[in-house]
Amino acid sequence: MARNPFIAGNWKMNMTVPEGTALVTALIEEKDDITPVEVGVCPPATALYAIGKLLQEKGSAIKLGAQDVFGDGTGAFTGMLSIPMLVDCGCQYVILGHSERRGRFGTTPDWLTSPLQALFADSNESVNLKASIVMRSPLTPIICVGETIDERKAGKTDDVVRSQVEAALQGLDKGRLGEVVLAYEPVWAIGTGETCDSAEAQRVCQLIRNTVAAIDTAAAGAMRIQYGGSVKADNAEELLGQPDIDGALVGGASLKAADFAAIVRAAKVTAG
Ligand code: 13P
Repeated sequence: MARNPFIAGNWKMNMTVPEGTALVTALIEEKDDITPVEVGVCPPATALYAIGKLLQEKGSAIKLGAQDVFGDGTGAFTGMLSIPMLVDCGCQYVILGHSERRGRFGTTPDWLTSPLQALFADSNESVNLKASIVMRSPLTPIICVGETIDERKAGKTDDVVRSQVEAALQGLDKGRLGEVVLAYEPVWAIGTGETCDSAEAQRVCQLIRNTVAAIDTAAAGAMRIQYGGSVKADNAEELLGQPDIDGALVGGASLKAADFAAIVRAAKVTAG
């Protein structure tokens, strides 16, 4: 089945409103025809409204995504964001379970750059809960999975990734399961410049698709699986050329218009 590639930029804790506006304006000005590639940007919460408004005013096809969500409705949850708030800003996507938001108590905290990160503590269960409320909303989740370096060295990659996928998708409406985007992001490849070898990235993405197929075959055929972890203009084509890699979730290289646009062009080349 043909799946349109999906290249999304995760800006993480970068970009003020003026900086983000300049970046998106530059992306829009890249006049290339990128069909059939779908492109998205995931700014920090403070820039969502401004970027959403800009995309709408320019009639841009670039999609808007948030980096996380807490819940639905309203309530006494200081500092948190709800689905209606994200929809209000023009979001169509929301990243869930990024490794930088998953709590990993009890393991070597090589990923832990700040003790405050331990407070985020997303788990397989909370990611599933968030996914289930997102799937009942106008938003589409981009669910991140991936092993740490310790898990990889211990030969646990497949078990960790399989169980993260199974847990995240548990109980979701099978009729809409194919709309979910899964992002395979090996934690050790994030922000390190160390990319997962394309054959290994393909192997794990295929394992992810097979895991989804065990739940629902049609959903597995339709689902876009992104690779994330030090994707750059010079490795994008090789990664995106793999049969089970349908896009990329890009961190650092999404912060410069020329770099991000080059990755989008690589996706167009590999999409044929
Ligand atoms: P880098 O592209 O900076 O490695 O980040 C990947 C990532 O975490 C995207 O969500």
